[in-house]
Amino acid sequence: MCGIVGYIGEREAFPVIIKGLQRLEYRGYDSAGVALYNDGKINLCKTKGKVADLKAKAEQEVVLGGKIGIGHTRWATHGEPNDVNAHPHYSNSGDLVIIHNGIIENYASIKEALIARGYHFESDTDTEVLVNLIEDIKKNEKVKLGKAVQIALNQVVGAYAIAVFDRTKPDEIVVAKLGSPLAIGVGDNEYFIASDASPFIEYTNNAIYLEDEQMAVIKKGRDVKVRQVKGDKVVNPYVQELKLNIEQIEKGGYDHFMLKEIYEQPEAIKDTYRGRLRINDGIIKMAGIEDNLQKFLNANRIIIVACGTSWHAGLVAEYIIEELVRIPVEVEYASEFRYRNPVINKNDVVIAISQSGETADTLAAIKLSKEKGAFVFGVCNVVGSSIARETHAGAYTHAGPEIGVASTKAFTTQITVLTLMALKLAQEKGQISRSDFYNYLSELEAIPEKVEQTLKSDANVAAIADIYKDAENCLYLGRGYNFPVALEGALKLKEISYIHAEGYPAAEMKHGPIALIDEQMPVVVIATRKGHYDKVVSNVQEIKSRKGKIIGVVTEGDKEVRGLADHVIEIPETSEILTPLVTTIPLQLLSYHIAVMRDCNVDQPRNLAKSVTVE
Ligand code: G6P
Repeated sequence: MCGIVGYIGEREAFPVIIKGLQRLEYRGYDSAGVALYNDGKINLCKTKGKVADLKAKAEQEVVLGGKIGIGHTRWATHGEPNDVNAHPHYSNSGDLVIIHNGIIENYASIKEALIARGYHFESDTDTEVLVNLIEDIKKNEKVKLGKAVQIALNQVVGAYAIAVFDRTKPDEIVVAKLGSPLAIGVGDNEYFIASDASPFIEYTNNAIYLEDEQMAVIKKGRDVKVRQVKGDKVVNPYVQELKLNIEQIEKGGYDHFMLKEIYEQPEAIKDTYRGRLRINDGIIKMAGIEDNLQKFLNANRIIIVACGTSWHAGLVAEYIIEELVRIPVEVEYASEFRYRNPVINKNDVVIAISQSGETADTLAAIKLSKEKGAFVFGVCNVVGSSIARETHAGAYTHAGPEIGVASTKAFTTQITVLTLMALKLAQEKGQISRSDFYNYLSELEAIPEKVEQTLKSDANVAAIADIYKDAENCLYLGRGYNFPVALEGALKLKEISYIHAEGYPAAEMKHGPIALIDEQMPVVVIATRKGHYDKVVSNVQEIKSRKGKIIGVVTEGDKEVRGLADHVIEIPETSEILTPLVTTIPLQLLSYHIAVMRDCNVDQPRNLAKSVTVE
């Protein structure tokens, strides 16, 4: 969703901001804008479309010089995506200029009051209301910008990460955060502002992550002053040293981030179990679990909350945890859970899964669970993210930055962490024999190699993609551990190729989707040897009798499905509970190739956002 970039220092701000916005493109957006201060004036340029369009337009239309500026990529919430609604927004006097990620929920009543006081509005956005509220307070209360921002934020309801500066005092930028992320890059006599560290990592490794309801006044050549939005408490900012490097956020020779991330999975899975999976000692080390072992072992049930692909990882975890640990598990869409008055109590353990660690609904589900007394454990990829901070304990996936909007390595590393957790708990609970435990550990250790081997099917998958690239619909079927994989495969195809796709438990096909099957319908069936194979073979036969086109994902050496299917993709054998880590790979590749062949924007599919910071 919306991306924020700002700069104040000795460099030319425009190139820093444009490059920064490009780094944030992965978040998903539909318009972009930039405002630069130069010689007593603010030069502003904004446009519907991509950052490249903004750059071209700005180079034609505005003075590009200036050492202080802000830029924004907008994912429309209030008002359609167009030039006028794009950020930055001016206040009525033209002195203040703001960028905002989030939603001001009570903007309509504030707008009405401002209109009554003579303010006018050009856009349909809540953001333009906020900047004018700040201006109104600044004028009436005769306070500095920082104070005006603080008073204004105490009047608004909603979520925000904002950056605002004043033409008449162009040596400072005021920022604030609630709900949406905001990081400040601390350089040498210069500061960067961004939604995450990727826009400034090439300039500095030092960053301050603002907490919710904190604001900061950032002045050239001075220390950053952080305070609470509510009350007057001054906060000592914690400057964190980041481990991220620039190579991790570049494409490294691949055509798309998604492809790079698919290919990074063997390493990402290894990085995720490294140090935790200790075969020689016959143990799993996970501090977050060890420190809270009794909470897990005494849990009445585990509730998993997540959205999108992370929710699919949660479904896989449900199967694994119930199988191995024998604690009941429920998997909930965070957006439903938070609003449906769920029964939660202090003997429940809630696991929140999120790649970004910023998903608004997942965050809200965590807050609700905490209020009801549950112990909340986070599984996140982004270190220091809001969910990582908001949960009682957690375990990071070590997938590295995931830039492609369609999640790939985040999914497999989430499953890796959740499998480690399940095995650890099963061992601690005395629920698993030593030999089974050991076998699972060595199977898990072998997964990166099996993923590597599966990636070799890329050319075969691309050839299949070429045959079905023009399909209008596609069905994905799987049973047991492969059912969530079917859901995930269908989601990948929908997200990036815009082909309508549905995932179903294979047996459920008879209760509806079978009616859709004809000779035009490609059906991807995940039919691995371990995993109700005979039942799935019967389902394949049912599809065959209705002339559907069958793409089988099968175990090496498979004969029966090969005899029935139009195409097969072979994967190496592994233990049943680990199958999703391998079967998901060809489905990622299939959607990738189809999207490329259809000329779709693979890394930034239309309407989607990487980090969904609004509910
Ligand atoms: C968006 C992304 C998905 C992701 C989902 C949940 O829809 O496009 O890839 O699975 O949000 O995000 P999270 O960061 O919480 O895993």
